[in-house]
Amino acid sequence: MAATLHRLRSWLGALVVAILLPLAGFSVATAAPAPPSADGEVGTQIVGGTRASTSTYPWVVYLATSSGFQYCGGTLVAANKVVTAAHCTVGDSASAVRVVAGRDDKNSTAGVVARVTKIWIHPSYVDATQGNDVSVLTLDRNLTQATLPIATSSDTGLYAAGTSSTILGWGTTSSGGSASRYLLKATVPLTSNATCSSAYGSDFKAAHMVCAAYPQGGTDTCQGDSGGPLVAGGKLIGITSWGEGCALAGYPGVYTRVSNFATLITQQINS
Ligand code: ARG
Repeated sequence: MAATLHRLRSWLGALVVAILLPLAGFSVATAAPAPPSADGEVGTQIVGGTRASTSTYPWVVYLATSSGFQYCGGTLVAANKVVTAAHCTVGDSASAVRVVAGRDDKNSTAGVVARVTKIWIHPSYVDATQGNDVSVLTLDRNLTQATLPIATSSDTGLYAAGTSSTILGWGTTSSGGSASRYLLKATVPLTSNATCSSAYGSDFKAAHMVCAAYPQGGTDTCQGDSGGPLVAGGKLIGITSWGEGCALAGYPGVYTRVSNFATLITQQINS
């Protein structure tokens, strides 16, 4: 857990540097990954993923600072509501957050940039490893992108070990590496609670979290993917939350178990 928090802090540190250096007049050369080949393969991406399009996944969005720096993901669950992770929004003022929809390539101007009028954070949130890592943003406008339904308490079947799930994001393509210029996706199987407990001990709280990974590692979300979707059965079943490193064998990615928070999220959607 200390290592995880350390990594989280290094990521936040990098974020602060990325924001402050340009303000100080330095230009930060963001190393963009090589463009994908014609078949969309890009080597090691999300970690171990391939390029995806917001035309296929219209509800996947990213959170950016007012200067356009992407730092987390999110999911459009109503025309003006985005589900993300609490650790992505904690301490932020709504006026500082931008939600970008319909933009596969961060270096383009495609899609729409919405402002945020309200940030709701789970009232019991402390840090990601303690659970409750869920936040709902209210946008200043209704987006036209299609929304994704959230898993509810009647969707326990979607959480069975081995269920094939989709992860999406613009985060780093290796632990401590640089963020992806393009939206990436990968498929990972959900693990059992027992598998995740044996990796993380008491940091894994089955009621609040669900894990996904291949036993051999190699495919995972990573820094900057947080807040983004874990999808199965056409529903939002998880929110990218934390993990030890990225894509390490024996250390699955940990996601907020959306079904456990469905009532609270729905209240926010309807508020
Ligand atoms: N905490 C990271 C973030 O803020 C997400 C980490 C996900 N890690 C993993 N191994 N799946 O972006």
